[in-house]
Amino acid sequence: MNKRDMILPIPPAEIDAQMAYADQFAALAERPQTYFIVTYGCQMNAHDSEKLAGTLERMGLTAAPCKEEADFVLHNTCCIRDNAERKALGNVTWLKEIKKQRPHLLIGICGCMVQEPGMAETLLRRYPFVDVAFGTGNIHRLPEFLLKAVEKRQRVIAVPEEQSTLIEGLPIKRESSFQNYVTIMYGCNNFCSYCIVPYVRGRERSRNPKDILKEIENLQKQGVQEIMLLGQNVNSYGNDNSFGVTFPQLLHEIGKTGIPRVRFMTSHPKDLSDELIEEMAVNPALCHHFHLPVQSGNNRILDMMNRRYTREIYLDRVRKLRAAVPDIGISTDLIVAFPGETETEFEDTLALSNEVRWDSAFTFIYSPRVGTKAATLPGQIDPDVASRRIEKLIHQQDQITQEIFQSLIGTKVNVLVSGHARRDETELTGKSERNISVNFRGTQDLIGHIVPVQITAASKTTLRGEIIKGE
Ligand code: SAH
Ligand code: SF4
Ligand code: F3S
Repeated sequence: MNKRDMILPIPPAEIDAQMAYADQFAALAERPQTYFIVTYGCQMNAHDSEKLAGTLERMGLTAAPCKEEADFVLHNTCCIRDNAERKALGNVTWLKEIKKQRPHLLIGICGCMVQEPGMAETLLRRYPFVDVAFGTGNIHRLPEFLLKAVEKRQRVIAVPEEQSTLIEGLPIKRESSFQNYVTIMYGCNNFCSYCIVPYVRGRERSRNPKDILKEIENLQKQGVQEIMLLGQNVNSYGNDNSFGVTFPQLLHEIGKTGIPRVRFMTSHPKDLSDELIEEMAVNPALCHHFHLPVQSGNNRILDMMNRRYTREIYLDRVRKLRAAVPDIGISTDLIVAFPGETETEFEDTLALSNEVRWDSAFTFIYSPRVGTKAATLPGQIDPDVASRRIEKLIHQQDQITQEIFQSLIGTKVNVLVSGHARRDETELTGKSERNISVNFRGTQDLIGHIVPVQITAASKTTLRGEIIKGE
């Protein structure tokens, strides 16, 4: 995008107008009183749901304990792979039956899936029980949409063609009081050939660094211990505007706010600069964890994926990161069975996993997405072959993760305590800087604090340890 065409946030007056609708809605004699949001997909969606919840509470609704008890159920959908989409549509359809028993139930659907080409028409025709549908680019208009649906009893299907908006100033109901998301940019320009995100989230739009810093300063004042900076490709932050602040510079400024821990995701290997690596080494707020999706270990497949780096470039970035930050933990995303992937090409991914030794990897079977380039490629892989490949990859990665966990026994880590362990109420759990779950015995009052823990054992998915007293 031309820097002169930079995107400005939606004017504050427009947000004020929506808040006026919110007040109007709150004053209605008959209206939904409770809401429940079902969230699918990535952290972007989770954070959008926090904004939607903030807006709904501003409209006078309160959170219901489960969707069965809510007057308004909103599905914030994902369409990254076919199963994500099927799950969302299945759950929306299930509500149709509930609506027969409770006719006043209001059903909403939003998020990436709604933004898919043709989806608005499908919803209109095939899902007549959906009352409100809107896209990722107009979540700020929820008060207006709900008012119309409730007061005028009209269906609202409002999906913007373009998601070129930058939304500032919405109320946010944050899930946690000590671990928060902060969006630094929206959208994606990369058009990896398999991926739907650029189509449903629009082009890259970076937030004004002043707005980001103000938000983080406020969180720091409230005692927040950790923030996760969000964007589809955070290291291209600033490329689309003329604020003159790059991602490493932004991290530097964020470090000065005094927030104890900073994480970010996701980084694209092609944009991982030496400056960013340098900043990782010197900025004490940055957690020693790097999520660096590689997708494939084979150069032909990487080229077909339009990733714009090679296996060698990826390995070079990993080497540099580890040289600068020796105790860094690196994780990745991997796709198997991309169209045309041969057995030998898949083995290159297996070999890369042995060479890099990621702490962990999210592994996916390629899922064709209508409208993307890869969906039209010849050589779609047989599902049985794909399953066998992913199982082999998962098995190998599990073993590597185990070996890494074992090597951490005896070390001291700092853990941000997030709550009780799932399997044992007397245990606490939290994440180390390296983003590994650590369980240990401790008292409830430690939740929300960063504590030093000595690692004593490792299980399949977590480390175990003992709190170090007197530090
Ligand atoms: N912006 C991030 C990731 C976004 S989606 C990045 O570029 O790394 C998260 C992961 O889902 C991707 O890294 C990829 O591994 C996977 N993914 C995306 N589209 C997919 C598809 N069509 N089929 C299977 N996996 C996919
Ligand atoms: Fe999708 Fe690629 Fe953009 Fe990530 S960088 S969101 S995988 S197009
Ligand atoms: Fe899914 Fe949208 Fe995230 S498609 S993975 S929710 S950006």
